[in-house]
Amino acid sequence: MKIPLSNRLLTCCGYVRPGDRVADIGCDHGYLGIHLLQEGIASFVIAADVKEQPLHSAYSNARKYGVSENMAFYLSDGVKNIPRTFDTLVCAGMGADTMISILSAAPWLKASCYRLILQCQSKRPLLQSYLSREGYAIRRETLAQDGKFLYPVMEVVYEPGQILTGAHTYISPALLESGSPLLPAFLDRVIVGVENTLLGLSRTGGSAYEEQQTLLEQLKRMRARLTNTQGGSL
Ligand SMILES: C[S@@+](CC[C@H](N)C(=O)[O-])C[C@H]1O[C@@H](n2cnc3c(N)ncnc32)[C@H](O)[C@@H]1O
Repeated sequence: MKIPLSNRLLTCCGYVRPGDRVADIGCDHGYLGIHLLQEGIASFVIAADVKEQPLHSAYSNARKYGVSENMAFYLSDGVKNIPRTFDTLVCAGMGADTMISILSAAPWLKASCYRLILQCQSKRPLLQSYLSREGYAIRRETLAQDGKFLYPVMEVVYEPGQILTGAHTYISPALLESGSPLLPAFLDRVIVGVENTLLGLSRTGGSAYEEQQTLLEQLKRMRARLTNTQGGSL
């Protein structure tokens, strides 16, 4: 019996290399790791969650789907209590604040032997600024669609040098280069979000308003370039 997986999680799995030892941080139900083992993609999965109940559910799902022998389960805040014997860390379905606190507590992840697959649910520009400041580079990024929702998924490595600023913290160069057919629609949504922020700031004005206005202009230029190269929106 195959486990059902959302496009969002399938896209995260798409960045896992054959034979990888994977650490799924915030595993919840454990579906991602179970899928990776069922498909013979990962060789071993460390499933970790900060709460007991999701971890129990991951364990019972792993048994139900017959992959528990190749999984280990850890009650852990981020990577604090897990072994460091993995190649690829997946962190999906969390906000930027949680991801930043997990990564900040583990500077040992800044090593060429680790790859991070991150799917951030909220405040993504904050995470992208943090990553580039800390020397992490977004090597690849793409979009997944589930119903009306669009989710960016990125593959990150420790490679200091590329500092993201302005509109690139919203739409990374890697995402721009992805050629994803979902990119025009995603960029339109990002632009609407910034326009709404600007509306909220219009009474107070000041430097925050001016920053958002500059950002909006950059995003609109990005969008126009995309229309020229990709031929319009969805
Ligand atoms: C919304 S669920 C996402 C589950 C799954 N990764 C996905 O994308 O479908 C977030 C999970 O992360 C766990 N979590 C939140 N903060 C965490 C932390 N600091 N360390 C480990 N797990 C955490 C929660 O308990 C919850 O099970």
